[in-house]
Amino acid sequence: MGDRRAIGVFDSGMGGLTVLRALRDTLPHEDLVYLGDTARLPYGTKSADTVTAYALQATRKLLAHDVKMVVIACNTASAVAIEPLANQHAPLPVIGVVEPGARAGVAATQTNRIGVLATESTVKGGAYARAIGALAPEVSIRQQPCALFVALAEEGWGNDAIAEAAAARYLKPLFDDPDTAPDTLVLGCTHFPVLAPAIARVLGDGVTLVDSAATTAETVAAALAANDLATDDPSNGSERFLATDAPERFARVGGLFFGSEIAADAVELVDLRHG
Ligand code: DGL
Repeated sequence: MGDRRAIGVFDSGMGGLTVLRALRDTLPHEDLVYLGDTARLPYGTKSADTVTAYALQATRKLLAHDVKMVVIACNTASAVAIEPLANQHAPLPVIGVVEPGARAGVAATQTNRIGVLATESTVKGGAYARAIGALAPEVSIRQQPCALFVALAEEGWGNDAIAEAAAARYLKPLFDDPDTAPDTLVLGCTHFPVLAPAIARVLGDGVTLVDSAATTAETVAAALAANDLATDDPSNGSERFLATDAPERFARVGGLFFGSEIAADAVELVDLRHG
């Protein structure tokens, strides 16, 4: 039956639910505990020290739920906090989304030109440039911070004319010069997949959009197997949701990210400030 403890997953808000959805699809018999730090969103405009402190608190809360692994379903927190988290909680496996996102981008590009859309803090920290450079030094990378996408996604406006207008404005500098235009765009923020249809409408054909959800789920499956932590118990497979603010709103809007409805009474309000 294996190790029936849950996998802990966290993000600044609901964006990480796009990763949770991929985990659910890939690992149907794992229990999942998801924490959205909705009280302190966004992380993407905050300093590395602040985001690291928040990520450590989120991890402690998940460990109080006896999780066997932590998935940082937030690029911003993965970019700055994966090492301190893994060091502080070794041998707990800690999986981030930046390396899997970089791998998805490298696998997709035909022209060796990748664009990365992310939060300001992820762009500034350069984690994608390092991760892509380590996998494929021949690839050139252009990054574009898209802070407004986070607010649009959390508002539930990810797939409308306002999202398209924002996408057109953010994408213009990347595609102005056909000689440097990327053929692959990595959605380097877990909030952005809900904007993918609007972004695709702006881009037209010829550009591949990738995100880290599927490759992160594969990485988690491999880490479970490698650490002998997987379970195939068919009575397992639940999701539990924790939010640091507005659980009712989390349930209402979160379904857009998770791809299926979240019941209002399934979301528990938690406080990380003293953890
Ligand atoms: N979902 C987070 C990420 O992947 C960031 C959103 C925020 O700014 O809090 O980077």
